[in-house]
Amino acid sequence: MIIQPKIQRRGPALPDFPWDSLSDHAAKARKHPGGVVDLSVGTPVDPVPAVIQSALSSVADVPGYPTTHGTPELRAAFVAAVERRYGIVGLSADAVLPTIGSKELVAWLPTLLGVGLGDVVAVPSVAYPTYEVGALLAGASVVRLADGEKPPAGTRLVWLNSPSNPTGRVLSAAQLRDAVEAARAVGAVVASDECYLALPWDSSPVSVLHPSVVDSFDGVLAVHSLSKSSSLAGYRAGFITGDPELISDLLELRKHAGMIVPRPVQEAMRAALEDDAHVAEQRARYLARREVLKPALEAAGFTVSHSEAGLYLWSSRGEDAWETISWLADRGILAAPGTFYGPAGAQHVRIALTATDERIAAAAERLSA
Ligand SMILES: Cc1ncc(COP(=O)(O)O)c(C=O)c1O
Repeated sequence: MIIQPKIQRRGPALPDFPWDSLSDHAAKARKHPGGVVDLSVGTPVDPVPAVIQSALSSVADVPGYPTTHGTPELRAAFVAAVERRYGIVGLSADAVLPTIGSKELVAWLPTLLGVGLGDVVAVPSVAYPTYEVGALLAGASVVRLADGEKPPAGTRLVWLNSPSNPTGRVLSAAQLRDAVEAARAVGAVVASDECYLALPWDSSPVSVLHPSVVDSFDGVLAVHSLSKSSSLAGYRAGFITGDPELISDLLELRKHAGMIVPRPVQEAMRAALEDDAHVAEQRARYLARREVLKPALEAAGFTVSHSEAGLYLWSSRGEDAWETISWLADRGILAAPGTFYGPAGAQHVRIALTATDERIAAAAERLSA
């Protein structure tokens, strides 16, 4: 029997929420005598750095509304941090906008940009599912672009994601430049999702706003998140920046729509941006986990491709992804099938580095048994 949802949206249907389809494998993995090792989602598990926690609580007594644009101190801290950490220069603090995590921004950006029926949103061939969801919410259609493929006429928004979720692939400055040029040629805005930029392993990812990529920010947006680099997924802490006119329009719309980051979170974000030490510590934790898990997967017969940066090992046993998910679940390990990210992921699974050292060691041991 098909159960009709009570809320009938106009426009294209949204896909089923992919993680729901993992529930049988999750139930099997949970029965493992040593407990489940859940590597299926990229959710941080390490403590929120003390410097961030105390900044959050320092402004607990603020009864008034916060500003949608964020405090001047927050925006100045963002400009300074992205120059220090990623070499982005020439960014004005006016062209920085905090978001309630980056997922909401990804889901609503096409709508806020006025993309709609008859328009096309281009996404990578294997991609974070919310790019597609955002296009469908706006009523637009989605085209998946293979590496280096140019967006078709009618494309209004091109999503880039380097380092990539799920593949960990890093686009070079030249590849980013080509992608921006191709988007501009069809009049599309480029939105580059850079939430894994602070987690390089075997290559050095660059921002789309880096001077080696663009001479002007015209039509180019970068989406950042503190969820992964500062373990702040629970706070909902993201940013969008780039083209000053686009940011100004987005600010107006977000003011009307009440898309406001709470004031204590703004303070926490400021503290996170002013401190690079905790970012280096967090990166070292993930690196140590990667150094345990990657060789264990390879010794167990997996091929790990890309995975040069970011939080995932894009892994394959040369078989259907669901067979691999089942094989891993037999060992109490939960991963995400590549099909969650697009048909091109049919023979891969995405294995996250986001578990404690103890759980990662348990996974490695089970893989070698
Ligand atoms: C590529 C990508 N973009 C955006 C997000 C959303 O992150 P957040 O909403 O926590 O900032 C994620 C989360 O996993 C992601 O992988």
